[in-house]
Amino acid sequence: MIIAVIMAGGIGERLWPLSTRKKPKQFHIFGAEKTLIELTVERAQAFADKIYIVTTREQKALFTNYLPNFPQQNILIEPFRRNTAPAIALGCLHASDEDIIVVLPSDHIIRDKETFERTMNSAIKEASKNNILVTIGITPNSPHTGYGYIERGETFNSETGSFTVKKFHEKPSFDVAQRYVKDGRFYWNSGMFVWKKSSFDKALASHLKDINSAMKEIKNDYSKLESVYKGMPNISVDYGIMEKADNVIVIPANFYWNDVGSWDSVYDLEEKDENGNVVKGNFILHNVRNSLLVNTTQRNIGISHVEDMIVVVSNEGTLLCHRGETQYVREITKRLEEKA
Ligand code: GDD
Ligand code: MG
Repeated sequence: MIIAVIMAGGIGERLWPLSTRKKPKQFHIFGAEKTLIELTVERAQAFADKIYIVTTREQKALFTNYLPNFPQQNILIEPFRRNTAPAIALGCLHASDEDIIVVLPSDHIIRDKETFERTMNSAIKEASKNNILVTIGITPNSPHTGYGYIERGETFNSETGSFTVKKFHEKPSFDVAQRYVKDGRFYWNSGMFVWKKSSFDKALASHLKDINSAMKEIKNDYSKLESVYKGMPNISVDYGIMEKADNVIVIPANFYWNDVGSWDSVYDLEEKDENGNVVKGNFILHNVRNSLLVNTTQRNIGISHVEDMIVVVSNEGTLLCHRGETQYVREITKRLEEKA
């Protein structure tokens, strides 16, 4: 059986003031007609026999609202946010040894449906034959420091275009990322993974022993979920497993992929008008170029003689930022959390 595990517990803090704890980014619409979570479930339905969504307690009600037809029993609740390694392990607890697990983030835009499905089918084929962890790599076009980089080795299988992975490097510094982009043997990690449940269990037992034994305890007695999860290490699958494992392969992706990670990615994603602007909501503009303008309120926002700006106005707050600097919105959300 092919089981999709959708990781959907993130907050999307760099998309403030639209994405908030009350309504994180996967419940918003960007560059399409449906919410990111609806698109993710639809993508998974194309190849999965069963889909689990792993999320946090505070987001549960949002799923009932935004995915009313999704089976409630397949929404797995984490009592505490402990990052992606425990979230994936919790999803895998609900599978059998021979099942193939396809791990999907809940907040991406992917175009070229057919190419995507072909890539996923190749990944599923490789994972079902071998004790390997399959990653999907995106050819990098900038030294982005918010992504993991996959360094490819030799050809693994020319039929599926896959390579062995020499090393997985999670979120390098800017200088290192610059070197990787120039090199040509590196891909961005798309955050999607495919493996046999038994291969994941082996990796967990070798690299994340604490999480492995915590999961065994939960499996034996699910009522212990809350107490065991409290002491669960907080670690991502990228640092916890992918950087350490030596049985990783990569399949390069040839479809449009955007992780909608920041307002700059949103600008890239959306269609621009004749002035290079993306305009959503009520604005009065005079000589404004190459800017992203979002207003979810009824207020009139006037802007004159501005270029390369990001302006986002919602009932939660207002953001002004230069294009190219939107990674730093995280600093603002951090300060807001401290204030709260
Ligand atoms: N259930 C659950 N619980 N889901 C979580 C949690 C958690 O505690 N933390 C994050 N997620 C979900 C997010 O909602 C998102 O769908 C996915 O897991 C990835 O988490 P992010 O927090 O968005 O990770 P990232 O973007 O910083 O980095 C990852 O994705 C990049 C590609 O977008 C890494 O895998 C990078 O290597 C990768 O390049
Ligand atoms: Mg992300």
